[in-house]
Amino acid sequence: MTTTEVSDSIDIMFSAGQIAERLDALAKEIAARKIPGLLAIPVLKGSFVFAADLIRALHRAGMAPEVDFLTLSSYKKSRVSSGQVTILRDLDLEVEGRSVLIIDDVLDSGRTLAFAKDLISARGAKQILTCVLLDKKVPRAVNIKADFSAFECPDTFVVGYGMDVAHRYRELPFVGRLPG
Ligand code: IMP
Ligand code: MG
Repeated sequence: MTTTEVSDSIDIMFSAGQIAERLDALAKEIAARKIPGLLAIPVLKGSFVFAADLIRALHRAGMAPEVDFLTLSSYKKSRVSSGQVTILRDLDLEVEGRSVLIIDDVLDSGRTLAFAKDLISARGAKQILTCVLLDKKVPRAVNIKADFSAFECPDTFVVGYGMDVAHRYRELPFVGRLPG
């Protein structure tokens, strides 16, 4: 199957153009907070495309964030229904005393973002803001809200724009939904 055939079979929910336009507005919202010395922390892997576009939108909005990466994995333990989050690759930088913007792709149960926020808080960050591409309209397993979100999203599994199913579809320039 060619790449074109693959992406043709996916319903576009948010087009590349819609995302680009929204990210410029979102970056202006973030810049309006006038946070000096911001450290942006994308949560990998799913947020890498979003974060790459967002930090360039932040630059256009007049900001100069530093960037470091945190790789997390959530999985379900066998025979236990609750998801658990683990660190696959830790930050290089110290966050103590810093203002941090955590960037993630999807806010779903909330466990991943809550884990990242608790970790960075426990290490002594001065201020923690959170920004997600998609805020899924589902009941959270943990009580957390994103400070910034690009789009609200229905309770459906999405791919593209960095997000995968079984390591596929991250390359698509839009956010889409698999048919069926
Ligand atoms: P949470 O911990 O349940 O909030 O899930 C958030 C994480 O699960 C995100 O960082 C994503 O990597 C992943 N995720 C949740 N929903 C989707 C989806 O629809 N497509 C791809 N990844 C998803
Ligand atoms: Mg993720």
